[in-house]
Amino acid sequence: MKPELDKTNIVAFIADIFERRGAESYLGEAVTMAQHMLQGAVLAEKAKAPEDLVAAALLHDIGHYTSEFGTLSLGDTRDNYHEESGAKVLEPFFPAVITECVRLHVPAKRYLCATDPAYYGRLSEASKHTLSLQGGPMSKAEVAEFEKPPLPRGC
Ligand SMILES: [Fe+2]
Repeated sequence: MKPELDKTNIVAFIADIFERRGAESYLGEAVTMAQHMLQGAVLAEKAKAPEDLVAAALLHDIGHYTSEFGTLSLGDTRDNYHEESGAKVLEPFFPAVITECVRLHVPAKRYLCATDPAYYGRLSEASKHTLSLQGGPMSKAEVAEFEKPPLPRGC
């Protein structure tokens, strides 16, 4: 049974998900889900990102566990919006800088594929597949909108 979650036990709860389900295949790729998420965190550390961004990279795909917290597979024919569901499950426990990075990791991929031709070429087959389900590279209008500074909270 899922414990009542709060800021004192959320890290242990997420660690338990990594422990029990981290070995699951990452969309049929050569890495597991845990390895994929840890790779993100390691890359953020190597880029000397602040700790909250390293945590965001570690947690970016937590939305695949929203049954615990959905699942996603190459057989999926529609997007499961794991970025949004992941941000929502984290919001009660983590600061907005982390949850917004989780929420924006799919738009960021769509943006980078639209603005950096080499980026798309570096995507794995699974990531290219999910990109197509997520709307593909952003249009020029979507890029322009994404580049606008965010509105202050409450607007
Ligand atoms: Fe993701």
